[in-house]
Parts: sequence; C-alpha cells; structure tokens
Amino acid sequence: MGKQLKPTILRFESLASTNTEAARQALRGAPEGVCVVAREQTQGRGRRARVWVSPKDAGLYFSIILRPAHFDIQKWPLITLMAGAAVQGALVEAYALATDIKWPNDILANERKLCGILAETVETETGRACVLGIGINLNDAAFPEELREVATSIIAQTGRAPDSEQLLQSLVRAIARRYEMLQAEGGADETLREWTARSSYAEGKRVRVALGSDAQAEILSGTTRGLEADGALRVETDAGEIRAVRAGDVAALRQAER
Ligand code: BTN
Repeated sequence: MGKQLKPTILRFESLASTNTEAARQALRGAPEGVCVVAREQTQGRGRRARVWVSPKDAGLYFSIILRPAHFDIQKWPLITLMAGAAVQGALVEAYALATDIKWPNDILANERKLCGILAETVETETGRACVLGIGINLNDAAFPEELREVATSIIAQTGRAPDSEQLLQSLVRAIARRYEMLQAEGGADETLREWTARSSYAEGKRVRVALGSDAQAEILSGTTRGLEADGALRVETDAGEIRAVRAGDVAALRQAER
C-alpha cells in the first residue's frame, strides 16, 4: 500500500488564494497532508488563468499539499482525476448527491458546475510537491450574473444548507483514501477505471475541445474514446483521427450541434 496521508488543517479568515498559501508553505518545507482552508479568497484562481469567485462563506475553498515522491511524474495528471472521483464520492456519501465529472475534473450537478479543482506543481528543496486546490460552491447567493446559468451549489442541489466543516472533513478523508490507493500497486489503472465509470465524458460523448492553454486554442469536435494511461482524454475527430487531449477545455455539444 502507499503511504498514508495525515491531514493537518490550517484555517484562515481570508487569503488571496489557498493554492498560493499552500505553495508558500510547501516551499518552506511543509509536509504532505497540510491543508489550507480560507473563508474567502480575494484572488481565487481556476484553470486556464480564470478567476474563481470566492466570497466569504459562499464556498468551501481549500488546498492540500501532496508529495508523491515515488509516483511516476508522467502520471501526476492522475492526481486530479483521483481528486474528482474523491469529491464525487464524498458528495454521494454526504448528501446522496449524484454528479458527473467533466474532463479533467469539473464536478457537475445537472450539467452545471458545482466544484472546480486546480492542481499545481511546486519545486521545493525537499522535492516536487503538488498543491491540490478544491473549490465547492456552497450557496449561489454571490454568483455573478455571468455564472448564474452555468454554476450551481450544494444548497441549490440539495435544498439544505451544508455544514461546511463536515463537508471538509469528508472530502479530506475521501482524498486521503484515494491518494493512498493511487500510489498502491495497480492504483493508476484503478483510478483510470473509477474515473471512467463515474464520468459521462469518458466514452461516446460528443464534445468540442479547445486545445492547449491559451486563448488562441485550436478547436476540435469529436467523440470521446476513453482515457490514455496518463489521464489524457482520447477524442475521435469527425475525420476519424484519434487525438489525445492533455490540456484544454472540453464542452459537451448540444443536441442541435451534434
Ligand atoms: C477550475 O475549475 O478552474 C478550478 C477552480 C479551483 C478553485 C479552487 S478554490 C481553492 C483553491 N484556491 C484557488 O485559488 N483555486 C482553488
């Protein structure tokens, strides 16, 4: 079995970004398992340099330091896939809330975004670390206009005000369990299997992909065909070519666009 993760939670009223604070702590030698939580973020960020709107107590914002020293660097993208599966499992356990995972790791409820995950690597004196940042919308009172149609929250989905402390504990437990499994013998394949079983995006989904990480992305349309060993999404283009997507934005095509 892999090494056990022993979480230590550090709480803050307000931070620019929990990922930035966790990275700072990792650089200063913090061990894996250190988990930074803030009630609000003033510069919360998402993938592809997007802003993660983080008003006070409207979401759960936290970042965990991981140091998977013996885990093949080629497979580090699987850390985000395992995190998506862990969040999904914790939501079922806590609220019996069924969600989908959009590649690589957006958690969707009724096709709206409930949770985002941002994994960043940090080179530290004690080795390369991964800062795994997770943001879950607890309520939608503070969604800006442009997010109203595409985002959702725990309260909107369950009708209940969530106990954020309890949710944090179950999320951290779920992540610790799956992180351990990921590093165990056969854990990478198991993670790929679990992710595939839990995501409608894994196989046979008509998608549009903006490739790469910048605004001038190449766009392709096609049908998803499972995951590569490193977690890349295989997409069969309409010309019949298989492309492995490692960085990009995936969107489901609406009926009329298929
Ligand atoms: C995304 O969907 O683009 C990822 C969003 C990740 C947001 C979380 S909130 C906690 C942590 N701190 C950040 O600044 N970002 C992540």
